[in-house]
Amino acid sequence: MAVVLVTGGTGLVGQALKHVIDTEPEGSKYGKLKGETWIFASSADGDLRDPAQTLAMYEKYKPTHVIHLAALVGGLFKNMKYKLTFLRENILINDNVLHASHTQKTTKLISCLSTCVFPDAVTYPLDETKIHSGPPHESNFGYAHAKRMVDVQNHAYKEEFGCNFTSAIPTNIFGPHDNYDLEDAHVIPALVHKCYLAKQNGTPFIVSGTGKPLRQFIFSRDLAKLFVWMLRDYDDVEPIILSVGEDEEVSIKQVTDAIVKAVGFKGEYSFDTTRADGQFRKPASNKKLLERLGPNSGFQFTPFEEALDISVKWFIENYDTARTGMKKKA
Ligand SMILES: NC(=O)c1ccc[n+]([C@@H]2O[C@H](COP(=O)([O-])OP(=O)(O)OC[C@H]3O[C@@H](n4cnc5c(N)ncnc54)[C@H](OP(=O)(O)O)[C@@H]3O)[C@@H](O)[C@H]2O)c1
Repeated sequence: MAVVLVTGGTGLVGQALKHVIDTEPEGSKYGKLKGETWIFASSADGDLRDPAQTLAMYEKYKPTHVIHLAALVGGLFKNMKYKLTFLRENILINDNVLHASHTQKTTKLISCLSTCVFPDAVTYPLDETKIHSGPPHESNFGYAHAKRMVDVQNHAYKEEFGCNFTSAIPTNIFGPHDNYDLEDAHVIPALVHKCYLAKQNGTPFIVSGTGKPLRQFIFSRDLAKLFVWMLRDYDDVEPIILSVGEDEEVSIKQVTDAIVKAVGFKGEYSFDTTRADGQFRKPASNKKLLERLGPNSGFQFTPFEEALDISVKWFIENYDTARTGMKKKA
């Protein structure tokens, strides 16, 4: 019987996969197959930095398939401050998971990279052929190199042992169960949290930068469906970018307007243009994804505002248990 183990099962993407598996009808395109078991593991099930605990997890669940999402993930500040920690912990986690998948004869492993792994100096749009063609941006040097190694290892495991290992490259992800910690969150959850607090406290909502940069965001539940598609239909060692199209880039201003609307914030909001913007755009191509899905896949990305609305509602309803960074300060 098939057992699908999701590492990082308690995180943003892991919980989106759980939602899809729990809500899509059994036997449907993105649903679980009859008799298939899904395990959503957290670090409490085993610390994947440790080879013995990783092996014990595999011996316990005997996964036939693994979707490997567990990682040390963080925003810009944390990545810059803890480069070695990001490098070493992610290398350990990934090496242990890949090795256990090989020794325990997992039939398929999908790991998760990120568009952060791409070179800093690169021609746009990003595509799957450009991962190793130059050094990554120095701000996420550790994280990016650890993630790149997964692709290197996937090829080596395939060549030496014939393993069916591959990887996905998502763009910026958002959704329920995101990390909303004000000091360490990605742009959407950080702005949602700030806007929510401004509404609660009757204070102005100030957004860093000009609002002009453009980004491609993918809703975690759309990404989850694409992981299920990869599990069923994508058997190629080469990575694949999972993203909305380049024509669906949104500006930080559009993101902010949508957040203001979803939160119901009626106060003043402005941009602090003295703060740095970051790169203006870093578009990634989803051409390969669309080709592989095929013209009749029927797959549709959730419209941005609808997805944002779902995420904001989840955040407000789960404020006490969401990762807000508030509990650790209390
Ligand atoms: N978020 C983004 O915008 C983004 C963009 C591109 C790619 N990605 C990639 O997508 C994947 C999922 O990211 P996410 O945003 O869902 O992350 P997340 O919300 O921060 O969740 C991280 C998950 O990893 C687990 N984990 C961390 N360290 C572990 C360890 N030592 N042993 C076992 N489990 C451990 C956590 O378990 P606990 O809950 O027990 O701590 C949690 O389930 C990652 O590989 C990330 O690099 C994320």
